[in-house]
Amino acid sequence: MSKIKKAVIPAAGLGTRFLPATKAMPKEMIPIIDTPMIQVIVEEAVRSGIETIVLVTARHKESIENHFDYSYEVEKTLEEKGKKELAEISKSVARFANIISVRQKNPMGLGHAVLMAEPVVGNEPFAVLLGDDLIISEKKQATKQLMDLFDEMGKSCVAVMEVPEKEISKYGIIAGTKSKEGFWTVTDVVEKPKVSQAPSRMAIPGRYVLIPEIFDHLKKVKPGTSGEIQLTDGLVLLAQNQGLLAHTFEGIRYDTGDRLGYIDATLAFALKRPDLREDTILLMKKYLEKN
Ligand code: UTP
Repeated sequence: MSKIKKAVIPAAGLGTRFLPATKAMPKEMIPIIDTPMIQVIVEEAVRSGIETIVLVTARHKESIENHFDYSYEVEKTLEEKGKKELAEISKSVARFANIISVRQKNPMGLGHAVLMAEPVVGNEPFAVLLGDDLIISEKKQATKQLMDLFDEMGKSCVAVMEVPEKEISKYGIIAGTKSKEGFWTVTDVVEKPKVSQAPSRMAIPGRYVLIPEIFDHLKKVKPGTSGEIQLTDGLVLLAQNQGLLAHTFEGIRYDTGDRLGYIDATLAFALKRPDLREDTILLMKKYLEKN
């Protein structure tokens, strides 16, 4: 049994890269085919063995909480019409996990959002999953890969992936020493560096397992020029004080906060679904022939 029982999912950002869709609806509720992105993330956490999910939400994001609750009218109507299977799809989402939500009153950055979860997480190690990074892993969920590393090494860890130079400035980039293939001891993390200042090409895509000392570090972090408290600054303090590991996870990651990343994820998820795979291939062929 893993020591990690809780996962924090920050979902309080403004989602400005996806306007106008995010004007009146949370980015996290945008579906990949028929499943809101946040449900895909919650499913990854639950499949990894997480028991309690701490959602960090904000004003106008009530639909996220409602999604993980029962929808009495919908379910009762479906049952009355004999559509038991559909009613069950709706109900099953409410049974996924123990979901607790906390508020981030102002979008003051990812580090600040994680700090809002402290009263629920308490003095336990915990996972963090970002809502707009979807990962398809063939064998083991990306979060579970980090949880196993934590259980073995007892140190906080982040998932990393190698990115091309042109994408370096979009991520937190690690500096570190490689202990064996795919594993690093992190010495520094630089948030969105220029290529010339990047210590490596290893980027953090949005999966973490952290010890509770991160909260004390985040409380010391001063807001950057954008006024945001960066999780990266807390990770640097973790690396310097308690140690931080990085691991290249098995899996393909999709940045669904980005328009092209969203199309990529939609196609990949469609091709993985037996009910959609064949027709999706036909559609893709049709468009390829036309262009
Ligand atoms: P992003 O920077 O990708 O999300 O943060 P954003 O701020 O919503 O999007 P853009 O850049 O304006 O388009 C990664 C995750 O952290 C959460 C977001 O909801 C997202 O899931 N986040 C970000 C918070 O919870 N609070 C914040 O203050 C900032």
